[in-house]
Amino acid sequence: MPDHSLLDIPSARSGTLASLRGRLAPTRRYVCGETRAADFAQPITATRVAELFDQADRVFADELAKRRTSAAGLVGATAEHAARALNYMHQTSKRLTLCDDAKLDNVLELTLRLHEEDIPGDLIETGVWRGGMTIWMRALLRALGDNTRNVWVADSFSGLPAPDPTLDLRDAIWAHVMTSVQSLEASLDDVKEAFAYVGLLDERVRFLPGRFADTLPSAPISQLAMMRLDGDWYESTWDALDALYPKLVHGGYAIVDDYRLPTGCARAVDEYRSRHGIGAPLIDVDRQTVYWRKP
Ligand SMILES: C[S@@+](CC[C@H](N)C(=O)[O-])C[C@H]1O[C@@H](n2cnc3c(N)ncnc32)[C@H](O)[C@@H]1O
Repeated sequence: MPDHSLLDIPSARSGTLASLRGRLAPTRRYVCGETRAADFAQPITATRVAELFDQADRVFADELAKRRTSAAGLVGATAEHAARALNYMHQTSKRLTLCDDAKLDNVLELTLRLHEEDIPGDLIETGVWRGGMTIWMRALLRALGDNTRNVWVADSFSGLPAPDPTLDLRDAIWAHVMTSVQSLEASLDDVKEAFAYVGLLDERVRFLPGRFADTLPSAPISQLAMMRLDGDWYESTWDALDALYPKLVHGGYAIVDDYRLPTGCARAVDEYRSRHGIGAPLIDVDRQTVYWRKP
């Protein structure tokens, strides 16, 4: 059953940032869940993370020996740092996005700018988990009275694929540590239901279920104004850039959620940018996420 108190997003063609924030406050509360970090069922301790890194040292012993480092050394994370990151992901069942206020605000501000500057194109997130960020994108467009853009929702809808350790060993180590805490699995039905609950499951929301390598190259997307990548691994990031960056219009935004995650994500971005001569500066959103504007 849709929640009618959330359905009513007042729409205005020339919304200021402050009014847009105000009108979308109920949607923000919805995607963030009503409960926060204080409600962790069982916080993961730094000691437990240190144990998981020790296990990873044994699982990836040969590769780590070649590199003369440890699992924690290779991902560049201390147990305390990793415990904080993992605890953030280990949220209560109500949360629909792992993104915090800074990341939601970033998408809000950039979408408003695209709208005001009349930059054409759809929005996509690759790696949506329970869909909260894409619900936020659709709500923003609704609030702006923008009914021309699609929001593309791309995911396996069966959790993070096992990373290929030969592409980036840090992906495999981080997966080993992380999956003991959170599988990041949400089905297509779960995500559709979350959209429907706030009345945002309409013809402007388009789903791309499956591995990025299989779905993105043939997706019927003509042009993008915003691509938000949140697939964690080297391969997931590379596949999304390779298939979608050519469709990003000039003046459009590429946002990379996991750039400073201790995985191969940043290497995929750096390699892609260097191969294609992309010099637009990376702008920090928070301690993990960056974006740039296609010149
Ligand atoms: C960190 S979660 C995304 C979080 C989400 N953006 C949010 O707002 O909470 C990563 C997601 O990426 C998906 N994913 C990662 N690599 C993928 C791939 N190669 N193909 C399809 N889905 C992938 C996983 O299924 C998972 O749902």
